[in-house]
Amino acid sequence: MKRPFYPVLVALLAACTTTSPSTSPTTVATVAATSLAAPVPAATPIIMARAMVVSAHPEATRIGVEILQRGGNAYDAAVAVQFALAVALPVAGNIGGGGFLLYRGTDGAEGALDFRETAPAAATRDMYLDAAGNVVPDLSTLGHRAAGVPGTVAGMWELHQKLGKLPWKDVVEPAVQLAMQGLKLTEKEAAGLNRTRPDFVRFNPSSAYLKTDGGSWQAGETIYHPQLARTLEYIRDQGRDGFYTGPTAKLIVAEMQRGQGLITQADLAGYRPQWRKPLHGHYRGYEVLTFPPPSSGGVALLQMLQMLEPYNLAAAGWHSPQATHWITEAERRVYADRATYLGDPDFGRVPVAQLLAPTYNQQRMASTLPHRATPSAQVAAGTGLPAYESDQTTHYNIVDAQGNAVSCTTTLNGAYGSKVVVAGAGFILNNEMDDFSSKAGTPNAYGLVGGVANAIAPGKRMLSSMTPTILTKGNKLALVVGTPGGSTIITSVLQGILNVVDYGQNAQQAVAAPRLHHQWLPDQLDVEVGALLPAAQDSLRAWGYQLSPRNAWGRMEIIRVLPSGQLEGGADPRGDDAAAGY
Ligand code: GLY
Repeated sequence: MKRPFYPVLVALLAACTTTSPSTSPTTVATVAATSLAAPVPAATPIIMARAMVVSAHPEATRIGVEILQRGGNAYDAAVAVQFALAVALPVAGNIGGGGFLLYRGTDGAEGALDFRETAPAAATRDMYLDAAGNVVPDLSTLGHRAAGVPGTVAGMWELHQKLGKLPWKDVVEPAVQLAMQGLKLTEKEAAGLNRTRPDFVRFNPSSAYLKTDGGSWQAGETIYHPQLARTLEYIRDQGRDGFYTGPTAKLIVAEMQRGQGLITQADLAGYRPQWRKPLHGHYRGYEVLTFPPPSSGGVALLQMLQMLEPYNLAAAGWHSPQATHWITEAERRVYADRATYLGDPDFGRVPVAQLLAPTYNQQRMASTLPHRATPSAQVAAGTGLPAYESDQTTHYNIVDAQGNAVSCTTTLNGAYGSKVVVAGAGFILNNEMDDFSSKAGTPNAYGLVGGVANAIAPGKRMLSSMTPTILTKGNKLALVVGTPGGSTIITSVLQGILNVVDYGQNAQQAVAAPRLHHQWLPDQLDVEVGALLPAAQDSLRAWGYQLSPRNAWGRMEIIRVLPSGQLEGGADPRGDDAAAGY
């Protein structure tokens, strides 16, 4: 395939600020006051001797641990957890979506499995624009046209073929059982389904996610999934063919025809997951293994870690104005690069090596002032390079008794994806097409902007922020981390790593601690309740920051390997997440 260079796009923005003298990070660190650092809330992690699973649902975690106890490895458990989440966590767990799975074997072998959705063959660059060239509201986020070709089942099949140990049937069966037996809804799940009811009604003649009596779901009520159980049986018995051909594929195509969607039988049969080469970086003595494009997450994470390593964040204090300033300045520069350079590497050259060059990232930070926010309007993507997301994604980490590790982020994009439930098959289709840039410079559902690199094209993968990541130290597994959260994924994973490495937090503290987020545009620092002391907020405002209070985001999961070899699990208390093991 011809792979063009993508030109720098963000012409409307001035070049990086370079007129002010830069300040030595170490000089600044010595004057940084720690008195405005926020207190880190206490939190107790789960500790296990040998193996651990952390996921967004207790039933999925239970199933993962059972697979490990029955002699399955981390890859078997990943398949079982993925299918269990498709039943137990309809808001994000899926077979109608996609994801990225990063692994590191106990022997040091590693791999990055890309089972991201692709644009259907009939997709066009301007498919979400009206005749005047304006983005049609909701078209890329709601309903049949928002769905990309799902990749999850092919991804799980590929993973199992390459690395699984137990028979495929055995790792899919627990999800079949779960769907047949039904699940008691938690308060959060009942509220989520009730909130989404108008959209479910609009796009589906009937669905397991709607109560037959038209009423509201209550916490503690059991929801059953007989159609999804049947679909999972096809997958259990026929592997990937149980989804991409035969009865399930027919039902998907019929659903598309009912709602003028674009996915065809040929799109389904032609879907292929891709093995990618993981990205490597370093941070304070750790080796960082993370996900390459079509995720922007790994590149951005490694750029930010490079930018921050010269600064003494620990001395400045957790969420102190000084540390927050350095981190935010790194974030805004990296998200500007993301908007311009990142896209599907199969469709255009993504300048990964240039973006990860230490001199490039040092230069990007050279324009920061010690106590002054750089307005994002003065920060464009870096120059001189060959030019070129949901809150409702979910993440799981698994470490088995042999030391194999899996970090997987999987998604429908928005909460309950496109809100389209495939009639007769009982699963929800993604709305991942919104992660493309529908129109250059126009923000998507997460406020992210993009350009040519992330324009829609048939068969192309939409840019993602998903950042499954694994850290090692001295060639030994140290940390497994990831989170959902759309555009906030990258900054949350960064904070998870900083919380452990720079601030010595345990795994539960690191996932529970309130978070901050800046993504270049809009030029605002999102602040979760408790993330900054009032006096720190005053300092940051005085330095030119616009602070924006925001409700909790992300559901981060961490497994940390303690010096004793025990595993410490952190499951995000913002959801119903659970860590368990043995
Ligand atoms: N749909 C969110 C992401 O892939 O970043």
